Amino acid sequence: MFIRTDITSLPLGRRLAQDIYSFDGQLLMSKGRVLQESHLQQLLQRGYDYIYILEDENKDDMHESQISEGSGFKSLTNEQLPKAFSTSVESMRQMMDRVSSGHMIKTDEVEECIDLIYDHVLQTYNVFKHLQDLRNKDEYTLQHSVSVGVLSIKIGQSLGLDADKLKNLGVAGILHDVGKSMISLDIINKPGPLDASEFQEVQKHPVYGYQIVNEIKLGDHNIAQAVLQHHEHQDGNGYPLGVRGDKINCFARIIAVADVFDALTSDRPYRSRMPLLQAADIIVKSSCGQLDPLASRRLISYILDITTGEKVILSTGEEATVILKNEVDPARPLVRIGERFLDLKTSRDIFIKGFVS
Ligand SMILES: [Fe+2]
Repeated sequence: MFIRTDITSLPLGRRLAQDIYSFDGQLLMSKGRVLQESHLQQLLQRGYDYIYILEDENKDDMHESQISEGSGFKSLTNEQLPKAFSTSVESMRQMMDRVSSGHMIKTDEVEECIDLIYDHVLQTYNVFKHLQDLRNKDEYTLQHSVSVGVLSIKIGQSLGLDADKLKNLGVAGILHDVGKSMISLDIINKPGPLDASEFQEVQKHPVYGYQIVNEIKLGDHNIAQAVLQHHEHQDGNGYPLGVRGDKINCFARIIAVADVFDALTSDRPYRSRMPLLQAADIIVKSSCGQLDPLASRRLISYILDITTGEKVILSTGEEATVILKNEVDPARPLVRIGERFLDLKTSRDIFIKGFVS
């Protein structure tokens, strides 16, 4: 059985019920093709309004099953990643407490932390759907550490890193701020801006972290190097070493992107979290000088993919659906409000205030 559907209803992950030919008779897409965003964009650009798709076999959890079909991810219930995330944050808390009280971290503690989340992160398409609320329920440093591990794995996954490297990258992401456990909590949790001496103290955390991680026998030297270098900038203006470009460790370059993005999209005492697309905009700008351009591009692509089809609230108060992503100016996609389309690229006075959760 098949049904007719408008392309703008974004039937992502659904299967085509018949072959589609171009106007000059060339086969564009074969029957049975699982529809991805790029296919729908291609059809829209060629002037197609509707297509025929096979009837959905599983209507109850369409989004998850769409992803399963489209990219080979296993179907997951919505609870698995948040639960794994919470348990990993708890393990992280114990680890940080041990370091603060002068103990060494054990290898199996680190392995437990990453093993708890690793498979779930790989198999979950839109990690933000599950993490956004949860991320702000715990102490910032703890939830931020695990979130950076999660995002680093997502970036590494899209860069095609092999399984061993990907897991070690996740470990480095989780441990990137472990050096903060050596700094006074009054400074770490200070709600306002830091003064010069406090800032100087905070800037020591990559070196403290390197010393801590070096004591653990983790096998991959990239982990300790990434912890040491995650605040280095492409233009050499970072700290603690001031190294630049390709001289910065490959894990550190990925973690730096994840670190900035997670900080932007988290609630902080002095500002509210930024919507994902606005934060992607900042990453675009930061990739000229501060952040690694390739790792930045991979994260932006991921954010653009997972936000297409999502509902947003505009500055006008209207609810809209993101229809077509904008690679150059991520916060300004084409959106649909009811039956009307609005291109935020040209309607510069209107912006996205946030996503409908
Ligand atoms: Fe840091």
